[in-house]
Amino acid sequence: MAASLQLNVRPFVTQFLHSKLKPKHFQRKYTIRCSASPPAKRYTITLLPGDGIGPEVISVAKTALELAGSFEGIGFGFTEMPVGGAALDLTGVPLPEETLSVCKQSDAVLLAAIGGYKWDKNEKHLKPETGLLQLREGLKVFANLRPASVLPQLVDASTLKKEVAEGVDLMVVRELTGGIYFGKPRGFGTNENGEEIGFNTEVYATYEIDRIARIAFETARKRRGKLCSVDKANVLEASMLWRKRIEAIALEYPDIELSHMYVDNAAMQLVRNPKQFDTIVTNNIFGDILSDEASMITGSIGMLASASLGESGPGLFEPIHGSAPDIAGQDKANPLATVLSAAMLLKYGLGEVKAAQRIETAVLDTLNKGFRTGDIFSDGNKLVGCKQMGEEVLKSLDCKVPAAL
Ligand SMILES: NC(=O)c1ccc[n+]([C@@H]2O[C@H](COP(=O)([O-])OP(=O)(O)OC[C@H]3O[C@@H](n4cnc5c(N)ncnc54)[C@H](O)[C@@H]3O)[C@@H](O)[C@H]2O)c1
Repeated sequence: MAASLQLNVRPFVTQFLHSKLKPKHFQRKYTIRCSASPPAKRYTITLLPGDGIGPEVISVAKTALELAGSFEGIGFGFTEMPVGGAALDLTGVPLPEETLSVCKQSDAVLLAAIGGYKWDKNEKHLKPETGLLQLREGLKVFANLRPASVLPQLVDASTLKKEVAEGVDLMVVRELTGGIYFGKPRGFGTNENGEEIGFNTEVYATYEIDRIARIAFETARKRRGKLCSVDKANVLEASMLWRKRIEAIALEYPDIELSHMYVDNAAMQLVRNPKQFDTIVTNNIFGDILSDEASMITGSIGMLASASLGESGPGLFEPIHGSAPDIAGQDKANPLATVLSAAMLLKYGLGEVKAAQRIETAVLDTLNKGFRTGDIFSDGNKLVGCKQMGEEVLKSLDCKVPAAL
Protein backbone atom coordinates (compact mmCIF):
# COMPACT_ATOMS: atom_id res chain seq x y z
CA MET A 1 0.00 0.00 0.00
CA ALA A 2 2.75 2.41 0.96
CA ALA A 3 4.56 1.96 -2.37
CA SER A 4 1.51 2.93 -4.42
CA LEU A 5 0.93 5.91 -2.17
CA GLN A 6 4.45 7.09 -2.87
CA LEU A 7 3.75 6.97 -6.58
CA ASN A 8 0.55 8.90 -6.08
CA VAL A 9 2.34 11.56 -4.14
CA ARG A 10 4.89 12.29 -6.85
CA PRO A 11 2.65 14.28 -9.27
CA PHE A 12 1.75 16.76 -6.54
CA VAL A 13 5.36 17.24 -5.60
CA THR A 14 6.33 17.70 -9.23
CA GLN A 15 3.49 20.15 -9.74
CA PHE A 16 4.67 22.11 -6.75
CA LEU A 17 8.22 22.10 -8.08
CA HIS A 18 7.06 23.66 -11.27
CA SER A 19 4.86 26.25 -9.64
CA LYS A 20 5.79 29.88 -10.20
CA LEU A 21 7.21 30.19 -6.72
CA LYS A 22 9.68 27.36 -7.12
CA PRO A 23 10.23 26.89 -3.40
CA LYS A 24 13.58 25.21 -3.12
CA HIS A 25 13.74 23.27 0.03
CA PHE A 26 10.29 21.81 0.49
CA GLN A 27 10.00 19.21 -2.23
CA ARG A 28 12.70 16.90 -1.09
CA LYS A 29 11.35 13.46 -1.73
CA TYR A 30 13.62 10.85 -0.39
CA THR A 31 13.70 7.40 1.05
CA ILE A 32 16.15 6.34 3.69
CA ARG A 33 17.06 2.90 4.86
CA CYS A 34 19.04 2.43 8.00
CA SER A 35 19.56 -1.31 7.95
CA ALA A 36 21.42 -3.39 5.40
CA SER A 37 18.43 -5.61 4.58
CA PRO A 38 15.48 -4.12 2.69
CA PRO A 39 12.56 -3.16 4.94
CA ALA A 40 9.62 -5.56 5.01
CA LYS A 41 7.14 -2.68 5.36
CA ARG A 42 7.13 0.79 3.90
CA TYR A 43 5.19 3.89 4.93
CA THR A 44 4.95 7.36 3.45
CA ILE A 45 5.23 10.17 5.97
CA THR A 46 4.58 13.85 5.30
CA LEU A 47 6.83 16.10 7.36
CA LEU A 48 5.58 19.63 8.10
CA PRO A 49 8.43 21.53 9.77
CA GLY A 50 6.48 24.82 9.91
CA ASP A 51 8.10 27.80 11.62
CA GLY A 52 10.44 28.85 14.40
CA ILE A 53 12.01 25.83 16.11
CA GLY A 54 9.95 23.52 13.85
CA PRO A 55 12.70 22.62 11.35
CA GLU A 56 15.21 21.95 14.19
CA VAL A 57 12.99 19.58 16.17
CA ILE A 58 11.46 17.75 13.21
CA SER A 59 14.85 16.74 11.82
CA VAL A 60 15.63 15.02 15.14
CA ALA A 61 12.28 13.20 15.08
CA LYS A 62 12.84 12.10 11.49
CA THR A 63 16.18 10.47 12.24
CA ALA A 64 14.68 8.77 15.31
CA LEU A 65 11.88 7.37 13.13
CA GLU A 66 14.36 6.10 10.55
CA LEU A 67 16.56 4.36 13.08
CA ALA A 68 13.73 2.87 15.18
CA GLY A 69 12.02 1.71 12.00
CA SER A 70 15.16 0.08 10.63
CA PHE A 71 15.34 -2.20 13.71
CA GLU A 72 11.77 -3.37 13.05
CA GLY A 73 12.04 -3.87 9.28
CA ILE A 74 10.17 -0.64 8.54
CA GLY A 75 11.22 1.82 5.83
CA PHE A 76 9.89 5.34 5.35
CA GLY A 77 9.45 7.62 2.36
CA PHE A 78 9.45 11.21 3.64
CA THR A 79 8.00 14.21 1.84
CA GLU A 80 8.59 17.63 3.35
CA MET A 81 5.95 20.31 2.69
CA PRO A 82 5.37 23.91 3.84
CA VAL A 83 2.66 24.99 6.27
CA GLY A 84 2.01 28.05 8.45
CA GLY A 85 4.27 31.08 8.08
CA ALA A 86 6.71 29.20 5.85
CA ALA A 87 3.86 28.47 3.44
CA LEU A 88 2.61 32.06 3.60
CA ASP A 89 6.03 33.31 2.57
CA LEU A 90 6.27 30.81 -0.27
CA THR A 91 2.74 30.68 -1.61
CA GLY A 92 0.67 33.42 0.06
CA VAL A 93 -1.57 30.97 1.95
CA PRO A 94 -0.97 29.14 5.24
CA LEU A 95 -2.04 25.75 3.87
CA PRO A 96 -1.28 25.31 0.14
CA GLU A 97 -3.46 22.81 -1.70
CA GLU A 98 -0.34 20.81 -2.54
CA THR A 99 0.51 20.43 1.12
CA LEU A 100 -2.95 19.12 1.97
CA SER A 101 -2.93 16.76 -1.03
CA VAL A 102 0.42 15.25 -0.08
CA CYS A 103 -0.72 14.91 3.56
CA LYS A 104 -3.94 13.14 2.54
CA GLN A 105 -2.06 10.62 0.44
CA SER A 106 0.48 9.72 3.08
CA ASP A 107 0.19 7.14 5.84
CA ALA A 108 0.77 9.71 8.59
CA VAL A 109 1.62 13.39 9.04
CA LEU A 110 4.21 14.75 11.47
CA LEU A 111 3.92 18.48 12.17
CA ALA A 112 6.38 20.48 14.29
CA ALA A 113 4.93 23.95 14.97
CA ILE A 114 3.66 27.03 13.20
CA GLY A 115 3.53 30.76 13.93
CA GLY A 116 5.81 33.68 14.65
CA TYR A 117 5.99 37.43 15.24
CA LYS A 118 6.31 38.14 11.51
CA TRP A 119 2.75 37.03 10.75
CA ASP A 120 1.10 38.10 14.05
CA LYS A 121 -0.66 41.12 12.50
CA ASN A 122 -1.93 39.27 9.41
CA GLU A 123 -5.66 39.07 8.82
CA LYS A 124 -7.25 35.96 10.30
CA HIS A 125 -7.37 33.99 7.03
CA LEU A 126 -3.68 34.73 6.46
CA LYS A 127 -2.43 33.72 9.90
CA PRO A 128 -0.24 30.60 10.27
CA GLU A 129 -2.69 29.25 12.87
CA THR A 130 -5.45 29.25 10.22
CA GLY A 131 -3.34 26.78 8.24
CA LEU A 132 -3.30 24.41 11.20
CA LEU A 133 -7.08 24.58 11.61
CA GLN A 134 -7.51 23.99 7.86
CA LEU A 135 -5.16 21.02 8.04
CA ARG A 136 -7.14 19.40 10.88
CA GLU A 137 -10.36 20.02 8.98
CA GLY A 138 -8.90 18.77 5.69
CA LEU A 139 -7.66 15.55 7.28
CA LYS A 140 -11.04 15.10 9.03
CA VAL A 141 -9.37 14.34 12.34
CA PHE A 142 -11.94 14.44 15.12
CA ALA A 143 -10.11 12.81 18.04
CA ASN A 144 -7.26 14.51 19.85
CA LEU A 145 -5.07 12.33 22.07
CA ARG A 146 -2.94 14.16 24.64
CA PRO A 147 -0.81 12.04 26.96
CA ALA A 148 0.44 13.51 30.23
CA SER A 149 3.08 11.40 31.94
CA VAL A 150 5.29 12.51 34.78
CA LEU A 151 8.66 10.96 34.04
CA PRO A 152 10.57 10.05 37.21
CA GLN A 153 13.56 12.02 35.90
CA LEU A 154 11.47 15.21 35.62
CA VAL A 155 9.16 14.90 38.61
CA ASP A 156 10.56 18.09 40.14
CA ALA A 157 9.35 20.08 37.09
CA SER A 158 5.74 19.50 38.19
CA THR A 159 3.98 22.24 40.14
CA LEU A 160 2.29 19.53 42.23
CA LYS A 161 3.84 17.90 45.31
CA LYS A 162 6.21 15.10 44.40
CA GLU A 163 4.03 12.43 46.03
CA VAL A 164 0.99 13.58 44.02
CA ALA A 165 2.81 13.96 40.69
CA GLU A 166 5.07 10.93 40.60
CA GLY A 167 3.74 7.99 38.62
CA VAL A 168 1.06 9.99 36.76
CA ASP A 169 0.48 8.48 33.33
CA LEU A 170 -2.79 9.49 31.72
CA MET A 171 -4.24 10.20 28.30
CA VAL A 172 -6.95 12.73 27.47
CA VAL A 173 -9.04 11.84 24.40
CA ARG A 174 -10.80 15.05 23.32
CA GLU A 175 -13.54 15.33 20.69
CA LEU A 176 -12.14 17.93 18.30
CA THR A 177 -14.65 18.91 15.63
CA GLY A 178 -18.05 19.14 17.35
CA GLY A 179 -19.71 20.66 20.40
CA ILE A 180 -19.97 24.30 21.38
CA TYR A 181 -17.03 25.48 19.25
CA PHE A 182 -18.90 24.58 16.07
CA GLY A 183 -22.58 24.28 17.12
CA LYS A 184 -25.27 26.46 15.54
CA PRO A 185 -27.01 28.78 16.16
CA ARG A 186 -24.21 31.03 17.33
CA GLY A 187 -23.64 34.75 17.14
CA PHE A 188 -24.62 38.06 18.66
CA GLY A 189 -28.08 39.47 19.16
CA THR A 190 -30.28 41.50 21.45
CA ASN A 191 -32.39 40.26 24.35
CA GLU A 192 -35.84 41.39 25.41
CA ASN A 193 -34.29 44.22 27.45
CA GLY A 194 -32.45 45.51 24.41
CA GLU A 195 -29.08 44.33 25.77
CA GLU A 196 -26.47 42.84 23.47
CA ILE A 197 -26.03 39.08 23.87
CA GLY A 198 -23.54 36.53 22.61
CA PHE A 199 -24.62 32.90 22.26
CA ASN A 200 -23.29 29.46 21.30
CA THR A 201 -24.79 26.01 21.07
CA GLU A 202 -23.47 22.80 22.62
CA VAL A 203 -24.70 20.07 20.28
CA TYR A 204 -23.64 16.48 19.65
CA ALA A 205 -25.14 13.89 17.29
CA THR A 206 -25.04 10.19 18.07
CA TYR A 207 -22.49 9.41 15.35
CA GLU A 208 -20.07 12.03 16.70
CA ILE A 209 -20.15 10.51 20.17
CA ASP A 210 -19.99 6.92 18.94
CA ARG A 211 -16.87 7.45 16.86
CA ILE A 212 -14.93 9.30 19.57
CA ALA A 213 -16.07 6.65 22.08
CA ARG A 214 -14.60 3.85 19.94
CA ILE A 215 -11.27 5.67 19.63
CA ALA A 216 -11.24 6.19 23.40
CA PHE A 217 -12.03 2.53 24.18
CA GLU A 218 -9.36 1.40 21.69
CA THR A 219 -6.87 3.81 23.27
CA ALA A 220 -7.66 2.50 26.76
CA ARG A 221 -7.14 -1.02 25.44
CA LYS A 222 -3.60 -0.04 24.32
CA ARG A 223 -2.98 1.34 27.84
CA ARG A 224 -4.16 0.03 31.24
CA GLY A 225 -7.74 -0.76 30.26
CA LYS A 226 -9.52 1.99 32.25
CA LEU A 227 -11.69 4.70 30.69
CA CYS A 228 -13.27 7.66 32.51
CA SER A 229 -15.87 9.60 30.53
CA VAL A 230 -16.18 13.23 31.64
CA ASP A 231 -19.42 15.15 31.08
CA LYS A 232 -21.96 17.44 32.74
CA ALA A 233 -24.88 15.05 32.45
CA ASN A 234 -26.53 16.45 35.58
CA VAL A 235 -27.25 19.72 33.73
CA LEU A 236 -26.69 19.53 29.95
CA GLU A 237 -28.83 17.55 27.49
CA ALA A 238 -25.86 17.15 25.13
CA SER A 239 -23.99 15.51 28.02
CA MET A 240 -26.98 13.25 28.80
CA LEU A 241 -26.82 11.91 25.25
CA TRP A 242 -23.01 11.68 25.55
CA ARG A 243 -23.30 9.43 28.62
CA LYS A 244 -26.04 7.30 27.05
CA ARG A 245 -23.96 6.66 23.91
CA ILE A 246 -20.71 6.02 25.82
CA GLU A 247 -22.58 3.34 27.79
CA ALA A 248 -23.97 1.86 24.57
CA ILE A 249 -20.53 1.64 22.94
CA ALA A 250 -19.08 0.20 26.17
CA LEU A 251 -21.02 -3.01 25.40
CA GLU A 252 -18.53 -3.56 22.52
CA TYR A 253 -15.62 -3.34 24.97
CA PRO A 254 -16.39 -5.61 27.95
CA ASP A 255 -12.68 -5.77 28.80
CA ILE A 256 -12.49 -2.01 29.51
CA GLU A 257 -13.42 -0.66 32.95
CA LEU A 258 -15.69 2.36 32.36
CA SER A 259 -16.50 5.13 34.84
CA HIS A 260 -18.17 8.54 34.54
CA MET A 261 -17.26 11.82 36.21
CA TYR A 262 -18.73 15.33 36.09
CA VAL A 263 -16.34 17.86 34.62
CA ASP A 264 -16.13 20.02 37.75
CA ASN A 265 -15.11 17.00 39.79
CA ALA A 266 -12.64 15.90 37.10
CA ALA A 267 -10.94 19.31 37.22
CA MET A 268 -10.49 18.87 40.98
CA GLN A 269 -9.42 15.23 40.83
CA LEU A 270 -6.73 16.02 38.25
CA VAL A 271 -4.84 18.08 40.80
CA ARG A 272 -5.92 16.11 43.90
CA ASN A 273 -5.15 12.58 42.74
CA PRO A 274 -4.20 12.43 39.04
CA LYS A 275 -2.83 8.89 39.40
CA GLN A 276 -6.41 7.55 39.51
CA PHE A 277 -6.78 8.26 35.76
CA ASP A 278 -5.71 6.08 32.86
CA THR A 279 -7.68 7.26 29.79
CA ILE A 280 -10.16 10.16 29.90
CA VAL A 281 -12.66 10.81 27.10
CA THR A 282 -14.55 14.07 26.89
CA ASN A 283 -16.15 16.62 24.58
CA ASN A 284 -14.44 19.48 22.78
CA ILE A 285 -14.65 22.28 25.34
CA PHE A 286 -14.09 20.15 28.44
CA GLY A 287 -11.19 18.42 26.66
CA ASP A 288 -9.63 21.74 25.69
CA ILE A 289 -9.50 22.77 29.35
CA LEU A 290 -8.72 19.41 30.98
CA SER A 291 -5.92 18.50 28.53
CA ASP A 292 -4.13 21.77 29.29
CA GLU A 293 -4.64 21.20 33.02
CA ALA A 294 -3.31 17.64 32.72
CA SER A 295 -0.27 18.74 30.71
CA MET A 296 0.69 21.22 33.42
CA ILE A 297 0.98 18.34 35.89
CA THR A 298 4.09 17.32 33.95
CA GLY A 299 5.47 20.87 34.07
CA SER A 300 7.48 20.66 30.85
CA ILE A 301 5.98 21.87 27.57
CA GLY A 302 9.00 20.66 25.59
CA MET A 303 8.12 17.04 26.43
CA LEU A 304 4.45 16.85 25.46
CA ALA A 305 3.23 15.05 22.34
CA SER A 306 -0.21 14.75 20.75
CA ALA A 307 -2.10 12.86 18.08
CA SER A 308 -5.21 13.76 16.10
CA LEU A 309 -7.04 10.85 14.49
CA GLY A 310 -9.95 10.40 12.12
CA GLU A 311 -11.99 7.37 11.08
CA SER A 312 -9.82 6.66 8.07
CA GLY A 313 -6.95 8.49 6.43
CA PRO A 314 -3.71 9.65 7.97
CA GLY A 315 -3.45 10.90 11.53
CA LEU A 316 -1.76 14.16 12.45
CA PHE A 317 0.97 13.98 15.09
CA GLU A 318 2.47 17.06 16.69
CA PRO A 319 4.04 18.41 19.88
CA ILE A 320 1.71 20.62 21.91
CA HIS A 321 4.21 23.48 22.10
CA GLY A 322 4.32 26.34 19.62
CA SER A 323 7.11 27.59 17.38
CA ALA A 324 9.02 29.21 20.29
CA PRO A 325 10.27 32.16 18.21
CA ASP A 326 12.27 33.42 21.22
CA ILE A 327 14.73 30.51 20.90
CA ALA A 328 14.38 29.62 17.20
CA GLY A 329 17.61 28.99 15.31
CA GLN A 330 19.71 28.95 18.49
CA ASP A 331 19.96 25.19 18.98
CA LYS A 332 18.14 25.55 22.33
CA ALA A 333 14.87 23.77 21.54
CA ASN A 334 13.89 20.56 23.26
CA PRO A 335 13.17 18.08 20.45
CA LEU A 336 11.71 15.38 22.73
CA ALA A 337 8.04 16.40 22.36
CA THR A 338 8.38 15.96 18.60
CA VAL A 339 10.34 12.72 19.03
CA LEU A 340 7.55 11.43 21.31
CA SER A 341 4.99 12.60 18.73
CA ALA A 342 6.86 10.39 16.25
CA ALA A 343 6.45 7.52 18.74
CA MET A 344 2.70 8.23 18.84
CA LEU A 345 2.70 8.23 15.04
CA LEU A 346 4.16 4.74 15.10
CA LYS A 347 1.80 3.46 17.83
CA TYR A 348 -1.53 5.12 17.04
CA GLY A 349 -1.03 6.00 13.36
CA LEU A 350 0.70 2.92 11.96
CA GLY A 351 0.11 0.32 14.69
CA GLU A 352 3.89 -0.21 14.96
CA VAL A 353 3.95 -0.59 18.72
CA LYS A 354 7.43 -2.11 19.02
CA ALA A 355 9.13 0.66 17.05
CA ALA A 356 7.21 3.18 19.20
CA GLN A 357 8.46 1.48 22.38
CA ARG A 358 12.02 1.70 21.10
CA ILE A 359 11.71 5.49 20.80
CA GLU A 360 10.01 5.89 24.18
CA THR A 361 12.69 3.76 25.84
CA ALA A 362 15.48 5.71 24.13
CA VAL A 363 14.01 9.01 25.40
CA LEU A 364 13.88 7.67 28.97
CA ASP A 365 17.43 6.34 28.65
CA THR A 366 18.70 9.71 27.40
CA LEU A 367 17.08 11.44 30.37
CA ASN A 368 18.47 8.78 32.73
CA LYS A 369 21.95 9.64 31.46
CA GLY A 370 21.30 13.22 32.61
CA PHE A 371 21.03 15.00 29.25
CA ARG A 372 18.74 18.05 29.45
CA THR A 373 17.87 20.97 27.17
CA GLY A 374 17.49 24.35 28.87
CA ASP A 375 13.73 24.07 29.45
CA ILE A 376 14.08 20.95 31.62
CA PHE A 377 17.55 21.58 33.04
CA SER A 378 18.24 21.25 36.76
CA ASP A 379 21.52 21.21 38.72
CA GLY A 380 23.59 18.08 38.43
CA ASN A 381 22.50 17.36 34.84
CA LYS A 382 24.24 17.95 31.50
CA LEU A 383 22.97 20.94 29.51
CA VAL A 384 22.79 20.15 25.80
CA GLY A 385 21.32 21.77 22.69
CA CYS A 386 18.69 20.42 20.33
CA LYS A 387 21.21 18.71 18.05
CA GLN A 388 23.11 16.94 20.81
CA MET A 389 19.89 15.84 22.48
CA GLY A 390 18.96 14.27 19.15
CA GLU A 391 22.32 12.53 18.88
CA GLU A 392 21.99 11.14 22.40
CA VAL A 393 18.52 9.74 21.59
CA LEU A 394 19.99 8.06 18.51
CA LYS A 395 22.81 6.56 20.60
CA SER A 396 20.25 5.18 23.06
CA LEU A 397 18.14 3.84 20.21
CA ASP A 398 21.16 2.11 18.79
CA CYS A 399 22.10 0.20 21.91
CA LYS A 400 18.91 -0.24 23.92
CA VAL A 401 16.35 -2.85 23.10
CA PRO A 402 13.27 -2.72 25.38
CA ALA A 403 13.16 -5.76 27.66
CA ALA A 404 9.64 -6.62 26.47
CA LEU A 405 10.76 -7.10 22.86
N1 LIG B 1 0.45 23.83 17.41
C1 LIG B 1 1.18 24.89 17.12
O1 LIG B 1 1.89 24.92 16.13
C2 LIG B 1 1.18 26.06 18.06
C3 LIG B 1 0.77 25.90 19.40
C4 LIG B 1 0.88 26.99 20.27
C5 LIG B 1 1.36 28.21 19.78
N2 LIG B 1 1.71 28.32 18.47
C6 LIG B 1 2.29 29.56 17.93
O2 LIG B 1 3.66 29.63 18.35
C7 LIG B 1 4.06 30.99 18.51
C8 LIG B 1 4.64 31.20 19.89
O3 LIG B 1 3.61 30.96 20.84
P1 LIG B 1 3.84 30.91 22.42
O4 LIG B 1 5.09 31.67 22.76
O5 LIG B 1 2.57 31.28 23.08
O6 LIG B 1 4.03 29.36 22.76
P2 LIG B 1 5.32 28.43 22.58
O7 LIG B 1 4.90 27.07 22.97
O8 LIG B 1 5.89 28.60 21.25
O9 LIG B 1 6.38 28.99 23.64
C9 LIG B 1 6.08 29.18 25.03
C10 LIG B 1 7.40 29.13 25.83
O10 LIG B 1 7.85 27.78 25.88
C11 LIG B 1 9.15 27.65 25.29
N3 LIG B 1 9.16 26.43 24.48
C12 LIG B 1 8.17 25.99 23.68
N4 LIG B 1 8.54 24.86 23.09
C13 LIG B 1 9.78 24.59 23.51
C14 LIG B 1 10.71 23.55 23.23
N5 LIG B 1 10.42 22.54 22.39
N6 LIG B 1 11.91 23.59 23.84
C15 LIG B 1 12.23 24.58 24.70
N7 LIG B 1 11.39 25.59 25.00
C16 LIG B 1 10.18 25.59 24.40
C17 LIG B 1 9.34 28.91 24.42
O11 LIG B 1 10.70 29.24 24.29
C18 LIG B 1 8.53 29.94 25.18
O12 LIG B 1 9.31 30.51 26.20
C19 LIG B 1 2.80 31.82 18.24
O13 LIG B 1 2.84 32.30 16.93
C20 LIG B 1 1.65 30.83 18.43
O14 LIG B 1 0.52 31.17 17.70
C21 LIG B 1 1.66 27.27 17.61
